[in-house]
Amino acid sequence: MIPPTIEWCDGAVRLIDQRRLPAALDILTCRKVDELCDAIRTMAVRGAPALGAAGAFGVALAAARSEAETVDELLGDVGDAGGRLVATRPTAVNLAWGIGRAMEAVNDVAVRASDSPADLERVRVAALDAAEAVARADVHCNEAIGGHGAALLDDGARVLTHCNAGSLACVGYGTALGVVRRAHDDGKGVSVWVGETRPALQGARLTSWECQQLGIPATLVTDTAVGSLMAGGRVDAVVVGADRIAANGDVANKIGTYTLAVLAYHHGVPFYVAAPTSTIDAASPDGASIPVEERDPDEVTSFAGVTVAPEGVDVRNPAFDVTPARLVTAIITEHGVHHPPFTFHP
Ligand code: MRU
Repeated sequence: MIPPTIEWCDGAVRLIDQRRLPAALDILTCRKVDELCDAIRTMAVRGAPALGAAGAFGVALAAARSEAETVDELLGDVGDAGGRLVATRPTAVNLAWGIGRAMEAVNDVAVRASDSPADLERVRVAALDAAEAVARADVHCNEAIGGHGAALLDDGARVLTHCNAGSLACVGYGTALGVVRRAHDDGKGVSVWVGETRPALQGARLTSWECQQLGIPATLVTDTAVGSLMAGGRVDAVVVGADRIAANGDVANKIGTYTLAVLAYHHGVPFYVAAPTSTIDAASPDGASIPVEERDPDEVTSFAGVTVAPEGVDVRNPAFDVTPARLVTAIITEHGVHHPPFTFHP
């Protein structure tokens, strides 16, 4: 069994430290908002839906730790924490969404609260209740996505996935890998091609590990092998997750996703995106308005602590790319399967 990726325990946020997998299944406990911000920035916790829960639990943590004696002070502490959390990773809209859900709950109670200790406690409880609700809903959404998506896969389908959009990228179950997981549980005899996902190797380290835990047949390949796999007719469907989906259906996901989409289009392989509606950002009209995170050059110039490029070389390290909606066969959410043309409303 894969434990929950993130949860609240004894006044702190507990999460699987994904930097340590697959070598060790370690739990990291964040007792301060800054510790949680660091965990997000360094990808101890990552994946859009998991970041949504992290944001919401971060607001709850700020409220729980605040020593404010008035509602205004408490709102100030929580708002400040929300600002620091949202700045950690810019692309996955779920982070801002999760923070927003918890802040709304805080504001709803705060507006009727006095400065009494009992009322301040009610505000803190509201933040935690909202975060727990975000976490619970994530698993339910993913199970629904799994059901809708599995119906699209034929018996024996060989599914290519990228990065990690499994249980570890969510609170539990997974989105893209949840689709495969449900098809596997339904006895469809599916198997997975796991792209290793340079530079942080979420595919190699995390998706392969999850498939092993779940008993799903999986084969790890380098990112550069996928073209030849498709040309050889060995991929029946691509299923990936998303970090942000624009109103027109353009999809931001892990760098390399766009390459897969172009290859899939060229080879007539269906390209599915599986994501909860919390990943849809109707305020972004198209992919051009999605901020793409640029990460540390060290991720590219070194590998497992070993330098693999000459010192001083210029590096670009965009963590995500945007796949235009015209390359997407369907978007699978908890509400069902959406076919083009995509138009998502707020
Ligand atoms: O940089 P990461 O590991 O947070 O990127 C994760 C992805 O790109 C996932 O595909 C996406 O968040 C969907 S996870 C269900």
